[in-house]
Amino acid sequence: MSEKKSFYLTSTIFYPNAQLHMGHVYTMTVCDIIARYQKLAGNNVKFLTGSDENSAKIVKAAKEKGQTVPEFLNEITAGFKKLYKDLEISYDEFIQTTDTKKHWPGAIKMWNSLVESGDIYKSKYTGLYCQGCEAFYTEKELMDGKCPLHLTQLEKLEEENYFFRLSKYTSGIKKRIGNNELEIIPNTRRNEILAQLERGLEDISFSRPAHTVPHGIPVPGDSDQVMYVWCDALTSYISGIGYGLDEENFKKYWPVDVHVIGKDILRFHGAIWPAMLLSAGLPLPKKLLVHGLITSGGQKMSKSIGNVIDPYKLINEYGSEAVRYFIARKISIFEDGDMTVDSFRDAYNGDLANGLGNLVSRILTMAENYKVSTVDTIDPVTLISNDKYLDNFNINEYMNHIWKLIQVADKKIQDEEPYKKYKTDQQAAVKIVTELCTHLYEIALWLKPVMPDTSRIIIESLYYPNNPKKPDVPLFPRKD
Ligand code: MSP
Repeated sequence: MSEKKSFYLTSTIFYPNAQLHMGHVYTMTVCDIIARYQKLAGNNVKFLTGSDENSAKIVKAAKEKGQTVPEFLNEITAGFKKLYKDLEISYDEFIQTTDTKKHWPGAIKMWNSLVESGDIYKSKYTGLYCQGCEAFYTEKELMDGKCPLHLTQLEKLEEENYFFRLSKYTSGIKKRIGNNELEIIPNTRRNEILAQLERGLEDISFSRPAHTVPHGIPVPGDSDQVMYVWCDALTSYISGIGYGLDEENFKKYWPVDVHVIGKDILRFHGAIWPAMLLSAGLPLPKKLLVHGLITSGGQKMSKSIGNVIDPYKLINEYGSEAVRYFIARKISIFEDGDMTVDSFRDAYNGDLANGLGNLVSRILTMAENYKVSTVDTIDPVTLISNDKYLDNFNINEYMNHIWKLIQVADKKIQDEEPYKKYKTDQQAAVKIVTELCTHLYEIALWLKPVMPDTSRIIIESLYYPNNPKKPDVPLFPRKD
């Protein structure tokens, strides 16, 4: 048998300063759908996620809770992992940037490579700093004098820091994005970063005084400074697969097939990260998938507006499969997408309780009562691999396609009325229901990457031990 092709994808690594919200659940679910699809297509998938821990906001959050940094991080990351388990997120690696054994050797190796290329220099810096973004902004980038993302007042900071010669790589990156060596999806985001590159890049501060983040990674040769959180966080994408520790494993997976990110951090991934890689003499990522952000009621989800949707509550009430469904079908992947508690409940009742759930129950009830034989198996790899939608990350269209198949099955029941036919012509009714079972089986296979549990229950019911059997409880009970 030929060796499996490897497929490496990453989520962003989140700041563990608070528990995750619906936006994070969104991005993780998108990653998981891609990972499951690639596994189904027969690839050797590595799905990396993690937490971004060496920042001032972690120090602040731990202090506010009266905990040490390690105590605080243990509690929060345990919460991340519990959420991922409940959401059936099939990640393979969880990298923590405080991990001195797994992450630090790679971060130090990267720093030294940047130094060797002559791209690190020391300079005084005065700038406007946003605690929320962990980033400096230039006057040009501000919105009414405030952080364009958090709309908060910025602090004026003066520091002596190490700088990275980002400006040197402007044309190199432009060329590689221009010729799609580094592909940025969708086109709107590609154009956005190309426009930023056209305006030019300025060198960026790459370290902080050690007292601001005492648990951060010391700059090699200067323990008064720690690496800037973004420099160390981006490196987790390579340390997590062995850079600086296990070169063989690193080479097996790098360059990454896709980094999945939100549009809020495009500059870091479309400019700073490629520049670091070019400086270190490493290949660039193959693709960046840049998704939109979730809004609620047309406004950015935020605590102060009071429109935050708690993923834990949704999962408890509706189940994780419903959350995955909503994300995949109803949140536009390439644009911002809106979500309210009402729109979620409507989609649940309309598409899952009345749609898929009802179809499963009708077909399997007839199949059980009419003693239909179990349908022939279909190889999921043959059916699903090279899917024209998922190969292009078009999860929304993929789901629309599945829901069209559900409509076709509904219509077949309505038009051919097997339950009526059974009274006069049992054989004809059994034939129709067998066809419906095959159709349902296909739907279940298509659902596999998106709703793995629902898919499994449908398939198990179709094969219950010898003949189809209706599930004991409705898959999606109606909620009022
Ligand atoms: N730690 C950095 C990333 C470092 S990656 C090397 C960071 N963390 S974060 O916790 O702020 O998470 C940002 C990411 O979370 C976004 O890029 C996006 O993927 C996701 N989202 C956060 N809010 C979101 C929405 N409202 N909607 C969709 N995704 C959102 O930045």
